[in-house]
Amino acid sequence: MVNHAAKAKLVILISGRGSNMLSIIKAIDNGELDVSIAAVISNRPDALGLSLAEQAGISTSLIDHKQFLSREEFDQALAAEVDRYQPDLVVLAGFMRILTTDFVAHFKNRLINIHPSLLPKFKGLNTHQRAIEAGEEEHGASVHFVTPELDDGPIVLQARVNILETDDATTLAARVLEKEHKLYPDAIKLLINR
Ligand code: GRF
Repeated sequence: MVNHAAKAKLVILISGRGSNMLSIIKAIDNGELDVSIAAVISNRPDALGLSLAEQAGISTSLIDHKQFLSREEFDQALAAEVDRYQPDLVVLAGFMRILTTDFVAHFKNRLINIHPSLLPKFKGLNTHQRAIEAGEEEHGASVHFVTPELDDGPIVLQARVNILETDDATTLAARVLEKEHKLYPDAIKLLINR
């Protein structure tokens, strides 16, 4: 899927603080990941990650979902914006919109997401609290290909943490996030080298 003659090109989609996006930027800067980021696109004007990407000198765009009457129209505009960059991989990094089947089909085999649980366990939101309440001993994060069903699709790589007696959702989320910041660059590296 990747053009090996040139450096693989990513477009990263965000909605919020952008710490996973930053971990990818850092991995590139450290020489651990040999890809380029063509653009960072947010669906929210107030996403902290947008200003972080700008500070890092990366092209940014805003496709504000509130400016569209339907999910379909938003996704079409988003797909058109992503297509401008012809990316090898479209990386969802805390992108908090459910994508239409058409969008997912358009980027088939090029669209990946990071989810804070050991999928297939705990799809959806509040994964850390739910893992604690379920009495799990382990929790973690997964990078997976995006398919039309939410938080489904083939898993690329996972990272695990033990759940401690003393954990609450906040402490557990912090330990999982630390793992995510290594997991996402590692998963991208795996995919571009396959
Ligand atoms: C991460 O926990 C990620 O797993 C989930 O959303 C969160 C995004 O955090 N999909 P950030 O914006 O990358 O800091």
